[in-house]
Amino acid sequence: MSADSHKTFYLETFGCQMNVHDSEKVIGTLVHEGYRQVETVEQADLILYNTCSIRDKAEQKVFHRLADYKKLLKQGKKFGVLGCVAQQEGEKIFERAPHVSLVCGSASYRNLPQMLAQLEAGKSEAAKPEAGSLIRITGLDDRETDKCFETEFTARTNPHRGYITIIEGCDKFCSYCVVPFTRGKERSRTAESVLAEARQMTDLGYTEIQLLGQNVNSYKDPAGKLGRGKSFSELLAAVGEVPGIRRVRFTTSHPRDFGRDIIDAIDAVPTLCDHVHLPVQSGSDRVLSAMQRLYNREQYLERIAWMKSAKREISITSDIIVGFPGETEEDFAQTLSLLDEVGYDAVFTFKYSPRPNTPSLALEDAIPDQEKSRRLELLMARQKEIQITRYKKYIGTISEVMVEGKNEARNQWIGRTSQNKTLNFTAPEDASPAIGSYVQVRATTSFPNSLLGELVV
Ligand code: SAH
Ligand code: SF4
Ligand code: F3S
Repeated sequence: MSADSHKTFYLETFGCQMNVHDSEKVIGTLVHEGYRQVETVEQADLILYNTCSIRDKAEQKVFHRLADYKKLLKQGKKFGVLGCVAQQEGEKIFERAPHVSLVCGSASYRNLPQMLAQLEAGKSEAAKPEAGSLIRITGLDDRETDKCFETEFTARTNPHRGYITIIEGCDKFCSYCVVPFTRGKERSRTAESVLAEARQMTDLGYTEIQLLGQNVNSYKDPAGKLGRGKSFSELLAAVGEVPGIRRVRFTTSHPRDFGRDIIDAIDAVPTLCDHVHLPVQSGSDRVLSAMQRLYNREQYLERIAWMKSAKREISITSDIIVGFPGETEEDFAQTLSLLDEVGYDAVFTFKYSPRPNTPSLALEDAIPDQEKSRRLELLMARQKEIQITRYKKYIGTISEVMVEGKNEARNQWIGRTSQNKTLNFTAPEDASPAIGSYVQVRATTSFPNSLLGELVV
């Protein structure tokens, strides 16, 4: 047993890819501090939740978890809440869950080592008298920080494809969204540090990189002040040209800032994947305006037209919210017709959820939950029909996939195409592909969400 083996932690992550990647950085940082990650709450001294508050349901999850494991406090275990609920609720978390000792938003993770040292030493600057014997430590930010959370100790879980954060926070303030409040103001990393991380990853054998940000299109290289900063499309192309890189993805794009130069980069650099996730939220101009999305249907469709004129076929996916306050049948019909017009390969659909601090909280004409559910189902049914038709046309075609794993029960390999489609496949016993390798697969069967095929040998 090592001297530090008593310091164990368990971390559960909720929410988007930004949170997943933040957790990789938190794990790297804690391990560097001498902590050991364990797989169960029971084995851990420190139990951490990296939380999401994008919709009410997501926020409730962490309070359920905390309630479930409250009894473990008696065994001397400590609880910490990280991420978006931490930033949003702040010290109110101590009221709702008095057994929590640490509350820390994403812009303060670089201070985690000091905060954990305080926690271990059993003292807290923020300790309140009424806290009794409990230790309470907070790391919260206003929207002022201009630092990103960069660390050399990222503990990536997948050895072949990994995330790189290029921009944190969001300045868009869509009227329904908590992110500008939970993630702070928009701040970009230097292109130089992003490229250095990409090179470091290829040295370790990574071949796929996914660039992350709430709005990657508004990336601005801070070195730009000196007159040599890269735009997003230039950074994208530069990452795509790092020797050893086979695939580069990026998410999320905001239509307002999505320029034609991004399509030009995809045309020019073959490693840039032919997939764009471009959330539209609604097909109705009236609703888009109430959402403060800063574009209208026509401008959105103009960007879709750019994608459709690209050299390779670009797969397009989106996010849609139904039941925004005041959304009429006619507004909703416009969203349905937009699905037909674009022809998405996947759509993530959500019922509008009122969130703290957001301007749309004050809007009247809330849509009843039952009606939101009805619209959601109609939307999903229409999209399913579209996908059935779209996926069918790949039957007989050959695509390159990255081998992501094997489904032993079905005796099928799990593959992903550059378009981000799942293309599972069978392979002869003597031609088993290695996980992380790239192989050619002929699609033979289509489903609404995936393809099945056979290895081309
Ligand atoms: N930055 C990204 C995505 C942020 S959150 C973007 O701008 O597209 C991911 C998705 O959650 C959003 O695209 C939106 O569809 C959904 N979402 C955000 N706030 C929501 C809310 N209050 N209720 C329902 N869905 C919401
Ligand atoms: Fe939220 Fe809008 Fe920012 Fe996306 S762009 S994170 S939806 S405020
Ligand atoms: Fe959720 Fe925060 Fe991501 S609110 S979606 S974890 S930025």
